Amino acid sequence: MRFLGIDTGTGGTRALLIDAEGRVTTSATIEHLPFASPETGWAEQDPRDWWRAATLAIRYVISKNDIRPEEISAIGFSGQMHGAVLLDQHDEVLRPSIIWCDQRTSAQCVAITEKIGATRLIELTCNPALTGFTLPKMLWVRELEPELWRQVRTVLLPKDYVRLRLTGDKATDVADASGTLLFDVARRKWSQAMLAATEIDEALLPRVYESPEITGVVSSVGAAATGLRAGTPVVGGGGDQAAGAVGMGIVRPGTVSATIGTSGVVFAASDKPALDPKGRVHTFCHAVPGRWHVMGVTQGAGLSLRWFRDQFGAGADDARDPYERLTEEAARIPPAANGLIWTPYLMGERTPHLDPHARAALVGLTANHTRAHVVRAILEGVAFSLRDTFEIFSEMNVPVREIRLGGGGARSELWRQIQANVYGREVKTVEAEEGAAYGGALLAGVGAGAWRSVDEASDSVVRIKSAVAPNPEAVETLEHQYRRFRAIYPALRPLYE
Ligand code: XUL
Repeated sequence: MRFLGIDTGTGGTRALLIDAEGRVTTSATIEHLPFASPETGWAEQDPRDWWRAATLAIRYVISKNDIRPEEISAIGFSGQMHGAVLLDQHDEVLRPSIIWCDQRTSAQCVAITEKIGATRLIELTCNPALTGFTLPKMLWVRELEPELWRQVRTVLLPKDYVRLRLTGDKATDVADASGTLLFDVARRKWSQAMLAATEIDEALLPRVYESPEITGVVSSVGAAATGLRAGTPVVGGGGDQAAGAVGMGIVRPGTVSATIGTSGVVFAASDKPALDPKGRVHTFCHAVPGRWHVMGVTQGAGLSLRWFRDQFGAGADDARDPYERLTEEAARIPPAANGLIWTPYLMGERTPHLDPHARAALVGLTANHTRAHVVRAILEGVAFSLRDTFEIFSEMNVPVREIRLGGGGARSELWRQIQANVYGREVKTVEAEEGAAYGGALLAGVGAGAWRSVDEASDSVVRIKSAVAPNPEAVETLEHQYRRFRAIYPALRPLYE
């Protein structure tokens, strides 16, 4: 018995096979074409490229292990959230998908908020209108590309386009649907009030399922394209954050993850939809039936370090991995980087500022600062930004009893220690840190009956690998630096208005 997880990410598609004990037997990642940015703040990808990458990644994992397709008992999806895939009456792609980090929809967000009312919007969807969400993107196309909009018959989220090509079914799951702004997150169904207020026909949207529920089976066309067996069941799956959380054991209240990928996400599960009246964190359905989650998002987390490496970083005069070299240098610099502070708003910011026009800043430079100080300031600034979410969680009484680290921020020893010091808490890492595709595969296992529940799947496979304690002296220094970090955005905001 094997389960296949497929994650339609931004940079690439990852396919991953696990056995009945949750051990990863093979995985493969096929890169996507980089997203196009025809104007500042825009981000678009061709959904057909995601399907191309999925077929290659699936073929690879099947052939690598000499798996007979009938050994795969079920398939689960995860994927980048919020993107709008627009299809015509023949299910052909009408335009490139406007993806999660695209920032073009400020005017549509203002219009939605004015029409519905900020408080009512949070009552209906648990969230405010944010530029990255799906509904504002749909309204942008309706207003600016009316000819094209008239041909739209179906709107899907990114992973659900891959599901359509594989199974022929139009379906999504509650966790991913939560990021559309058309979903009644508290009641786990499409919001009739939102559909009516924005004049969107429900017939455009897919059917919604709970994440471990079976939504259909691989079609003969899907089987021919991938090498999978026609008839293999497929489950709902989840948006990448919810699916990733299942794979890290973040399924019940109390255990919280801090994941630094391109974006940075602090994620907590809850028994009820936990709301921030100011909408600074997202309240979405979890991939666990009957549970919700709340998360804060830093748009430019790992992106900050990658940007610095690409533009100013270590040259090719050294065979080592440039990240390793940069963080090794930064490790020799004392906490708080001799007063230097980085605010990571390279792509605007969601939590806590909700401001697509926020800009990054490096504040407090003196002549004796070096590249290593800048790198240290970047690592600390990203952790400060994630700390902002922990502060909001504490205002909301979201319990944080254990913190687990994920993504690139968990792989670097220095970043782990910085996070422990900035959060002032012990932080842990887990053994199979395989990202969202792993969560998708576990959800498939639950759908196929290998585990009785998502809790049981997650509890039986997730193991703690290491723990890092905060260093009391550094905690104090960084607490002071965090206060200074918090003063920077309000001071600079007038410059960008
Ligand atoms: C979550 C979010 C990102 C994307 C990209 O709200 O925008 O996690 O799903 O991975």
